[in-house]
Amino acid sequence: ARIALLGVPIEIGASQLGTLMGPDALRTAGIGRILNQLGFAVEDHGNMAKPGVAPDEGPPPANAKYYDTIKGWIRELSERSYSLASSGAVPIFMGGDHSLSMGSVNGVARYWHEQGRPLFVLWLDAHADYNTPQTTETGNMHGMSAAFLCGEGGLDGLLGNHPRASIGPDQLDLFGIRSIDPLEKQLVFERRIAIADMRAIDEFGVGVLIRKVIDRVRAKNGVLHLSFDVDFLDPAVAPGVGTTVPGGATYREAHLIMELLHDSDLVRSVDIVELNPFLDERGRTARVAVELIGSLFGLQITDRRTPSNAVL
Ligand code: ARG
Ligand code: MN
Ligand code: MN
Ligand code: MN
Repeated sequence: ARIALLGVPIEIGASQLGTLMGPDALRTAGIGRILNQLGFAVEDHGNMAKPGVAPDEGPPPANAKYYDTIKGWIRELSERSYSLASSGAVPIFMGGDHSLSMGSVNGVARYWHEQGRPLFVLWLDAHADYNTPQTTETGNMHGMSAAFLCGEGGLDGLLGNHPRASIGPDQLDLFGIRSIDPLEKQLVFERRIAIADMRAIDEFGVGVLIRKVIDRVRAKNGVLHLSFDVDFLDPAVAPGVGTTVPGGATYREAHLIMELLHDSDLVRSVDIVELNPFLDERGRTARVAVELIGSLFGLQITDRRTPSNAVL
């Protein structure tokens, strides 16, 4: 099987600068190498270039910071994502902040829709990212991507004349949530979005809850996109993010999720977002993210050799 890596160095959707370095940190931490060792043919498509000046389409919506620049990224990324999915590769979109999912997921959703298979999206994140310009408290567009993908209004001109392929609110799973704004919460409840918050994870465990997600995708003959926001992890495991929230997933929970997803054989595309190397500690967060990608693509505990004194 082929895996296509694409770097998407967007940083202005986030509250702090620095995620533009994410794709290169993931490469340095060995994302290509680990996938090669697992037997995949890895194509690295490099990093997308910063988009040029966007066409003037009138005043941007209020409460959506850097809307005009982000719309340039999203339109181009949506096309790239659609063609990578059409090529038969499994694309991994390396962020960059979480606003990039408006393009990556839109593109793959369009492709799978044409194939007659519904796309489900698993959103591993401390946050719901279900704000609209009407509900946001910050105006940061990385907090709006899940809502946009489910067809919420307020950013309707974002794609211009590029096709918009929304998913239904019943095709999204918010998983790991522990920070949500008041109006955002109201909207998520109104739409009856499936949520596994940290309380549910503590009570039932990730094994039970991820199997529920997988069963739902299978029942509809769907495929799965994994949108992995690194702040899903506990800040003790993953300090290199701008929006840390205490009480996140442990190292072991995260690996188990990836192993179960691998066994399901349903994941056809992945985002890794919000890694901020400027805030990281000696590459720890990038390394953990790469190890988790290893588990997602088939690395097993029993593949990991016990180090002998000969190699020490
Ligand atoms: N809910 C907050 C906001 O709208 C935080 C969003 C954080 N999102 C993220 N992708 N880290 O600004
Ligand atoms: Mn996010
Ligand atoms: Mn987040
Ligand atoms: Mn396998």
